Amino acid sequence: MAAMAMMAMAQPTPEPTPAVPVGAPLTYDDVIGPLFKSRCGMCHGGGSPVMGLDLTTYGGAMKGGQNGAVIIPNDPQGSLLVQKQSGAQPHFGQLNPDELDMVIEWIKNGAPEK
Ligand code: HEC
Repeated sequence: MAAMAMMAMAQPTPEPTPAVPVGAPLTYDDVIGPLFKSRCGMCHGGGSPVMGLDLTTYGGAMKGGQNGAVIIPNDPQGSLLVQKQSGAQPHFGQLNPDELDMVIEWIKNGAPEK
């Protein structure tokens, strides 16, 4: 038993694969854009994006959709995108909590493009 416990302790804790390269600047171009493209782009992208909301370009993401802006720089709680992703009902494309934290942090920082 003791030997097994020691072996278990020697195992490095598996790190979850980070969604983005560690140390990448928290900008649309480096982090948020690729995230939106992979998680949201199949609906909010392309020729006729759902709700007119194209999250696959910086301009589209900042312009918002049918209900206006979805990202309010420096105001994550006031941003419809964060509200949709934090709701009790999961969205059609749901960010995981770590990804949502990154998006909130990015909006807090003023939602920079680069
Ligand atoms: C499978 C398709 C699909 C995916 C993937 C998807 N969405 Fe949506 N999204 C919708 C639909 C349908 C609506 C309209 C209904 C609603 O508001 O819930 C919508 C609405 C929205 C709105 C509100 C737009 C407005 O003007 O009212 C936001 C913000 C939004 N989505 C963000 C996201 C984000 C961020 C992602 C990725 C993490 C994402 N969506 C992924 C289908 C999708």
